[in-house]
Amino acid sequence: MLAIERLSHSFRTGQEETPVLHELNFRVEQGEMVALLGSSGSGKSTLLNLMAGLMKPTSGSILIAGQAIEKMSENRLAEFRRTHIGFIFQSYELIPHLTVRENVELPLVFQSVASHERKQRALALLQQVGIMDKSDMFPSQLSGGQQQRVSIARSLITNPAIVFADEPTGNLDTKTEKEIIDLLIDLNQNGITFVIVTHEHEVARRTQRILQLRDGYLLEGNEQEGEAG
Ligand SMILES: Nc1ncnc2c1ncn2[C@@H]1O[C@H](COP(=O)(O)OP(=O)(O)O)[C@@H](O)[C@H]1O
Ligand SMILES: [Mg+2]
Repeated sequence: MLAIERLSHSFRTGQEETPVLHELNFRVEQGEMVALLGSSGSGKSTLLNLMAGLMKPTSGSILIAGQAIEKMSENRLAEFRRTHIGFIFQSYELIPHLTVRENVELPLVFQSVASHERKQRALALLQQVGIMDKSDMFPSQLSGGQQQRVSIARSLITNPAIVFADEPTGNLDTKTEKEIIDLLIDLNQNGITFVIVTHEHEVARRTQRILQLRDGYLLEGNEQEGEAG
């Protein structure tokens, strides 16, 4: 499903080059739920953004469903992202002037899916994430946990091959965090492949597999070792 080969990334500011990721290699199989763990600044978001095609790596390869996304043109990559990759942000990133249902439908608008089908698919997903009754409300009328449910529904509307989540519970209280993780686990048991960035051991403890980043190097497992950052 996902294969990372000798992936390195550096940020350049002026003359200075800051290496952030060092020759990473790993695979994620279809149906897996992987927690990407590491303290603040260890490179988690950088790795996630690379895997989701939001930026290009300095070197190395990222294969999703057999396709090397780092080689794609901007247009091809944008199209591939829209159809194969879901993304869940810590801060939800919902469009404030669209209703909950319209937010969930939005990725399909770019795929010229007929409006009645968009509506049906959005409502089915809103039911699945437990907030069908909120479909005509606006994001500002919802709690943080409910907004994250909308964002999760939106990430799934195109039936993506893989869904990336960057600290999806980072803005939520402990009880709501547990509810959102329960939902993600439930979706995973229904076949969705997830890579979830977190620095919460509580989240990582509940996933099948842990990848740990330390200073841009990858350690598999070792959930007891790192400190939450
Ligand atoms: N756009 C950028 N330009 C320069 N340095 C960056 C940029 N984004 C991240 N970094 C640096 O890369 C390192 C890893 O950052 P990040 O991937 O955001 O870590 P994490 O998500 O694990 O907290 C940090 O040292 C950060 O300062
Ligand atoms: Mg981060």
